[in-house]
Amino acid sequence: MTKIRAAITAVGHWVPEERLTNGDFERMVDTTDEWIRTRTGIVERRILRNGATSDLAANAILETLKNRGIPPSEIDLIIVATVTPDMFFPSTACLVQERIGAKNAWGFDLSAACSGFPFALVTGAQFIESGTCKKVVVVGADKMSSITDYTERNNSILFGDAGGAVLLEPSADSSSGIIDHILHCDGSGEKALHMRGGGSLNPPTHETVDKKMHFIFQDGKTVFKAAVVGMADVSAEIMERNHLGGKDVDWLVPHQANLRIIDATAQRMGLDGSKVMINIDRYGNTTAATIPLCLSEWWQSGKLRKGQTIVMASFGAGYTWGAVLMKWTAEDAR
Ligand code: COA
Repeated sequence: MTKIRAAITAVGHWVPEERLTNGDFERMVDTTDEWIRTRTGIVERRILRNGATSDLAANAILETLKNRGIPPSEIDLIIVATVTPDMFFPSTACLVQERIGAKNAWGFDLSAACSGFPFALVTGAQFIESGTCKKVVVVGADKMSSITDYTERNNSILFGDAGGAVLLEPSADSSSGIIDHILHCDGSGEKALHMRGGGSLNPPTHETVDKKMHFIFQDGKTVFKAAVVGMADVSAEIMERNHLGGKDVDWLVPHQANLRIIDATAQRMGLDGSKVMINIDRYGNTTAATIPLCLSEWWQSGKLRKGQTIVMASFGAGYTWGAVLMKWTAEDAR
């Protein structure tokens, strides 16, 4: 029997209009445009002033469905990858389901921080491959500005808000769609990257607010060292075990946390810089949205074409990290 593969048949994204530039940060904290550009590659990010993660997700999904030409009622399952849900419950997936009128869908949120999109994509693919669902929407959306402390300079300059989505459908072509994945987590990374306030360990109190426990904490140097090794290793491993060299891969779609981490990964994969999707300069780190945001922009501009071989790679809080190998299946943008 032919194995059913899960294939991406449409992609879309949504970002808010408002920009927060390096120049703005020069006025807010003790930093410079030069430091931010050279240490991270970031020039500006988008900020959602009014609204929540469900707005980012819903708009990205509607764009995706428009690109596929189908109504929300055809969706079977919605998976929202996020660390900034609108609220603890109900899930952002439920809020999005209602908002877009996906009356036949069930859904849930998935928490894997910057690896949220690959984790959710692989999860969604299982429902397609098992024959349980015919149309699964996977959306990565984060309003990082809601958990960012804009009075300090170490982390505030890194993050932005965005949503990106894909539609997964079955494909009988065994050489297309999602071909392989490697996913990892290592909870010892919690010490270096976390937001400890607000959950059952530290329910919100005046003290947790005063101690800034509802903001992202990151020991940047420690995370940097782990990310550089983790993302490069897993990308090289997925290529090796599928007998691929640099010339066989059309695009690396890396999580956009730091340009130096991306460069190190591409180098390890033997990839020319022209084959790496990079938009960190315009959006910063949008956590679960970075990868689908890249896919959508590259598809829209006609650079990402049907039949191309893609490796997506991520590293984030947990630690969580992984790589997904796929052949791009969406029809080319018109
Ligand atoms: N502007 C100016 N100086 C800054 C600054 C800023 N915005 N932020 C930090 N600095 C200073 C530090 O205080 C430090 O000064 P010191 O040497 O006098 O102590 C110096 O710059 C170097 O800081 P450091 O933290 O070592 O910088 P870095 O080169 O490691 O870059 C990050 C910091 C956060 C950009 C980098 O560590 C990083 O990208 N980490 C990984 C992020 C990641 O992948 N996260 C995973 C997913 S979220």
